[in-house]
Amino acid sequence: MGPAHAACALLSLAPLLVLGVPPIWTQPEQVHLSYPGESGSMVVTWTTFNKTESYVEYSLMGGRLFEMTAKGEASLFVDSGKEKRKMFIHRVILTGLKPAATYVYHCGSAEGWSDIFFFTALNNSTSFSPRFALYGDLGNENPQSLARLQKETQQGMYDVILHIGDFAYDMHEDNARIGDEFMRQIQSIAAYVPYMTCPGNHEATYNFSNYRNRFSMPGNTESLWYSWNLGSAHIISLSTEVYFYLEFGLELLFKQYEWLMKDLEEANKPENRAVRPWIITMGHRPMYCSDDDQDDCTTFDSYVRRGRNDTKPSAPGLEDLFYLYGVDVELWAHEHTYERLWPVYGDKVSSSPHSCIYSLCSGSVTEMCVFLFKVFNGSKEQPYLNPKAPVHIITGSAGCRERTDRFNPNPKEWSAFRSTDYGYTRMQVVNATHLYLEQVSDDQYGKVIDSIWVVKEKHGYSSWF
Ligand SMILES: [Fe+2]
Repeated sequence: MGPAHAACALLSLAPLLVLGVPPIWTQPEQVHLSYPGESGSMVVTWTTFNKTESYVEYSLMGGRLFEMTAKGEASLFVDSGKEKRKMFIHRVILTGLKPAATYVYHCGSAEGWSDIFFFTALNNSTSFSPRFALYGDLGNENPQSLARLQKETQQGMYDVILHIGDFAYDMHEDNARIGDEFMRQIQSIAAYVPYMTCPGNHEATYNFSNYRNRFSMPGNTESLWYSWNLGSAHIISLSTEVYFYLEFGLELLFKQYEWLMKDLEEANKPENRAVRPWIITMGHRPMYCSDDDQDDCTTFDSYVRRGRNDTKPSAPGLEDLFYLYGVDVELWAHEHTYERLWPVYGDKVSSSPHSCIYSLCSGSVTEMCVFLFKVFNGSKEQPYLNPKAPVHIITGSAGCRERTDRFNPNPKEWSAFRSTDYGYTRMQVVNATHLYLEQVSDDQYGKVIDSIWVVKEKHGYSSWF
């Protein structure tokens, strides 16, 4: 073959050389942990693009590597985009873990194993003081807080991460490749500590299917709403999106509301509230905010706060329910800012002359109006010492392609502290009476720009009086 022929032969091979060897579709990726709610357990979730078996091999840190094996299941997830991309979501539940012990693990099958990761099984003592990082609205593009969160998580600063809705921007895009990339991106956090989630508006496409399929939260609602306990806290995760995407079923709103009532009722039984006195909620869209946009929380008649009157039957909001059951702290996101509120109820800090409480009786909403004259701050000097209403935190500035939001220059009286810096919140439930919150500014290289202690000598509805 002459040189010209040889060159032609090489050129004809060029497409093959460019395409190269296809990836190994049995290799695990997007590894993440979640807590299934049972003491001594942990769920490992990951993705492969071909069907494989689902195993986790694990061992106590320092022990013989991978001496234990747990088997789980894979479920097929077909994205609803044009390409109908398929992937397998693997779930393995580890049980019988020693509380507070550190384990090393990898996941996969004989056809491919993940890297090695480690986690500490959650301490199941009610005197445990768990440390959380929490935020919402973290995307693939401009995920500004992510590097700091990765380092701090790997340094062992957190026991749990709470992601309060809005992931990836958006998981369904590019035939769910954006979802894949996001899950790869958070593996450096979520493979080390339980990554607990709730849905946001950016998950709504195809009826939240990427969210429902990719995460593994406790309960049987496909991660839409659930509750769990840690230390002296009962933590409730909910979907505020049931108030906005009625096309996916108004009945979901009522189902969740009924579940919330039952869950709060149970959590308030004296024997339960005595050991888990803190009730903390997390939901994506806040009831209150002072941002300069037209979001639900900027309006007095917020759907989340006051419900909807344009549905049949009319839909109850969450503020009265949470107040009635003595919810202590409410965590929100959606606004790409940080805002801390004074203890607030009925849009007021100082007094609420009139309030109506809704309840569900035999499937219909009943309304009970009460008259209240009171101050919700614990006192002018120490507003969070025995507050008389829930404390709201809005933390949606982790970083995403939509950048940060702007504030309204004239906030209402309940707005205590605001920041448009990128960042996230740290929370520690120290004991039955003390809870600490602080805001980290990533723009200011990790500086703590706000902090409060919420101190409650009494919890529950009666503590408001
Ligand atoms: Fe949002």
